[in-house]
Amino acid sequence: MRSVNTVLALRAAVAAARSGGARIALVPTMGNLHAGHLKLVETARQHADFVVASVFVNPLQFGPNEDFDRYPRTLTADAVALGGAGCDLLFAPPVDAMIAPGAATTRVVVPEVTDMLEGARRPGHFDGVSTIVSILFHQVQPDLACFGLKDYQQLAVVRRMVADLHLPVEIIGVPTERADDGLALSSRNQYLDADARQIAPLLFQTLQAIGDRLKRRAASPAALETEAMNRLREVGFEPEYVAIRARDLSEPTDGPWVVLAAARLGATRLIDNLLI
Ligand code: PAF
Repeated sequence: MRSVNTVLALRAAVAAARSGGARIALVPTMGNLHAGHLKLVETARQHADFVVASVFVNPLQFGPNEDFDRYPRTLTADAVALGGAGCDLLFAPPVDAMIAPGAATTRVVVPEVTDMLEGARRPGHFDGVSTIVSILFHQVQPDLACFGLKDYQQLAVVRRMVADLHLPVEIIGVPTERADDGLALSSRNQYLDADARQIAPLLFQTLQAIGDRLKRRAASPAALETEAMNRLREVGFEPEYVAIRARDLSEPTDGPWVVLAAARLGATRLIDNLLI
């Protein structure tokens, strides 16, 4: 696997692959990779001949009180893992290769789907995501890009951006990788202490329980959301939301649904979702 950190070298490597007829995939990441990221790379490999992974901790998507400085930078280990998973090219640019220093940058703002859930609680977060993903799409010009279903709303935002801007990129959503006890893999899991790590899988278990009751139409979506919030409080979470939505994140109708949740365990904020 080659590594580059300039846009010039990135474009040259991608152009060389494309001139040989390769279908190009992009896997955007912020590094600190775990098995969930590697599954994105493996999925990209199945759909493309040349896989580019980016590692860029994007300052635009962190709020003032979020963990940008604390976000772990583990590029050496990430490079080894990416090479092992079948990545062909690692793009790990410095901040000023992505965002002009000292000035406000042009933003890509996706409407509506960003107003709710994560977007309502993390103002500007999705503008930062869509801006940087759009920059990466322009730099790499991939045929396809892989994103995890774990960040369900992010995937919806990217799909909407691609549709609205007529970008010629196929977006592939990749199922969430989980620990044996069901906890969704996340870079944030490393912040959980031993007690919190015991409680953390109950987030997904609560979504499963609510999902079963939803399928059986045991109660209204609103009542099931309240049940789930109460259950999460009982077991030690501070839940921010549990939301039952149609798959496009509009208000729930008759299914199929997605159940989404965000909850804090101490200082660590976890999100998860389940397709029903
Ligand atoms: O999911 C992430 O890691 C980030 O939001 C992404 C898509 C790489 C954009 O910075």
